[in-house]
Amino acid sequence: MHLASFMKVNEMFTGVYRIDGKLATKSIVPGVRSYSEELAQSNGEEYRLWNPYRSKLAAAILNGLKHFEFNDKSAVLYIGAATGTTASHISDVASDGRLYCIELSERNMRELIKVCEDRQNMLPILADARYIDSYKESMEECDVIYQDVSAREQASILKINSRFLKKGGYAYFVIKSQSVDVSKDPKEVFESELRSLSGQFEVLEKIRLEPYDKMHLFTVLKKL
Ligand SMILES: C[S@@+](CC[C@H](N)C(=O)[O-])C[C@H]1O[C@@H](n2cnc3c(N)ncnc32)[C@H](O)[C@@H]1O
Repeated sequence: MHLASFMKVNEMFTGVYRIDGKLATKSIVPGVRSYSEELAQSNGEEYRLWNPYRSKLAAAILNGLKHFEFNDKSAVLYIGAATGTTASHISDVASDGRLYCIELSERNMRELIKVCEDRQNMLPILADARYIDSYKESMEECDVIYQDVSAREQASILKINSRFLKKGGYAYFVIKSQSVDVSKDPKEVFESELRSLSGQFEVLEKIRLEPYDKMHLFTVLKKL
């Protein structure tokens, strides 16, 4: 569905907009949908509405995220890209940058490849992020890591991959307590995951994602 023209467009962060109150990114591939997102036209530009129930980064922005450290030139390592929903919006923002999209599931990868075919700045990499040897040669030093994996070893995956992050770079680390240990209190899991990263990262923000998501803690870290 295309929304009508003459809407109020405000830029919240580099490349992130509020359009009549809804979150959106400016599409780098007008006319193309990466999932079932709504499109909106304004002043000759096409925007893709960004659904906070489908993307934890969108939910974090709506819940008051302060550090949005992506820009048009960002090099991003995206760990757990799934079918490319959130990655496609980061790809709109990092229009002249590069997104290295790591995904373990072959099924998700098939969908992700279709998204990457439309978007020149996204590179799909079928790999297990616990073992970087298979993709380390394809990597450059990155400005940002975005990690959202449904795996048990979440902090350890970030630690291993932080060698690709420049000093002073940012990590968006989404923690799913149930994947780490379903028997523990989620708060305990969140704290112990962050504690294990304390020598390598400073914690800048912790954001709960309710009402959009109840299972994750969204954190922003800076590499020391
Ligand atoms: C919650 S989904 C990610 C959703 C995605 N970030 C988005 O917002 O569009 C988690 C993904 O992590 C992937 N994953 C789990 N373990 C992984 C691993 N060790 N290496 C790479 N990807 C992994 C899963 O296959 C799944 O697609």
